Amino acid sequence: MNSPKEYIAQNKTRFLNELIELLKIPSVSADPAFSQDVLNTSKAVKTALLDAGCDTVEIYETEGYPIVYGERIIDAALPTVLVYGHYDVQPADPLELWDSPPYEPVIKETENHPEGAIFARGSCDDKGQMYMHVKALEYMTKTDQLPCNVKFMIEGEEEVGSDNLGIYVANNKEKLANDIILISDTGMIANDVPSITTGLRGLSYVEVEVTGPNRDLHSGLYGGAVANPINILTKMIASLHDENNHITIPGFYDKVEELSTEERAEMAKAPFSLQGYQDALDIESVYGEKGYTTNERNSIRPTLDVNGIWGGYIGEGAKTVIASKAYAKISMRLVPHQDWEEITTLFQVHFEQCAPKGVKVKVTPHHGGQGYVTPIDTVGYQAASKAYETTFGKKPIPQRSGGSIPIVSLFEEELGSKTILMGFGLDSDAIHSPNEHFGVWNYLKGIETIPYFYHFFTEMKKS
Ligand code: BES
Ligand code: MN
Ligand code: MN
Repeated sequence: MNSPKEYIAQNKTRFLNELIELLKIPSVSADPAFSQDVLNTSKAVKTALLDAGCDTVEIYETEGYPIVYGERIIDAALPTVLVYGHYDVQPADPLELWDSPPYEPVIKETENHPEGAIFARGSCDDKGQMYMHVKALEYMTKTDQLPCNVKFMIEGEEEVGSDNLGIYVANNKEKLANDIILISDTGMIANDVPSITTGLRGLSYVEVEVTGPNRDLHSGLYGGAVANPINILTKMIASLHDENNHITIPGFYDKVEELSTEERAEMAKAPFSLQGYQDALDIESVYGEKGYTTNERNSIRPTLDVNGIWGGYIGEGAKTVIASKAYAKISMRLVPHQDWEEITTLFQVHFEQCAPKGVKVKVTPHHGGQGYVTPIDTVGYQAASKAYETTFGKKPIPQRSGGSIPIVSLFEEELGSKTILMGFGLDSDAIHSPNEHFGVWNYLKGIETIPYFYHFFTEMKKS
């Protein structure tokens, strides 16, 4: 295979400008105010796929946002790679915390990105990473080096649970048939420490509501005599962890996969600076489950976190009031073998049971998904590993991630194929946060590495 380096150098400015144009469209799937922008983004993705060399591209309408499907089939006898990505983004708020507007991309240098990073919502998660695949296809078609068939499936509802994609996949198994699924929607350890994501955590997301008296009350006249829903809710939430930061929900750990001492020792070899981690977050110390390291806590162990909590008076000044209701949104990150629906039920039963008399509790499940682990003794992983070795000059480290892409386990169930997670973002890229960015170096490195995956995968499949 000819090195993609030269092609990338010649087209670098255009590659950056095209991504910047895509990032200007605020495709926020969670907020209906942006629905036209989300639809416009699906059209932009279709155009990009056609320009890059897909023979056919269709916009498949769903009850939610459309799925863009494209393909380039060169020979039915050759292997097929299915690329998945998402063109929707997280809401940008709080807007006042951005140093530059989220949909007016700018390139600025950072400590981790001395060659500059593109600052914009979606730059890393996932428009930038998805677009690397589009440009990699362009390179392979323009230089006549596409070694196998390729299918693209780019959705617009990943950040809101991928409900319609699940239906689409189940109904289009033949069309989506493939030998391997390729996704860039995760991260790597550092630019000089390449890694391939081998695991994703599952997720159960619930909302809870605690109701006390039937109306807001004067906190002097009634205070002390009736259950205050906010006091109760915070107490109930606090009781969900014990003094060792174990989760107290009965049965929660029953199916958790325990890693062997050898596997944990292998994991611990990945370079990691605790001091650097703490410094980057301005914290004096890490915090978490007793008996596990930071990298274990955020990948192979399940968690329970309050994502938002509200109720009562939060306006200017003081108002003496006992609120009638208090609310919280809670996420549980799950590990292999924990079933998200089962965990949701365990949570619901426990939370309702631990409520004291004097309040009513309602638990509303939101969405969830299973975790995923990909084996490393497969052609897919080995091909990815060789691709990184070629472009980074180093063998990548397999590493499990703490994040979730729930649709990945469904791909395996419905399509019977494994997923390779070739992520090029860094944890410090601030995905879902203000000032999200994606390194220019990372973007171009991704475009350079992906064609080698196709090359090695096809070669190894044939032999
Ligand atoms: N791309 C992320 C997931 C991710 C990021 C995995 C970094 C590993 C490393 C994805 O877009 C995402 O945000 N997923 C959500 C779950 C989804 C159901 C909203 C998550 O992990 O919170
Ligand atoms: Mn993503
Ligand atoms: Mn995301």
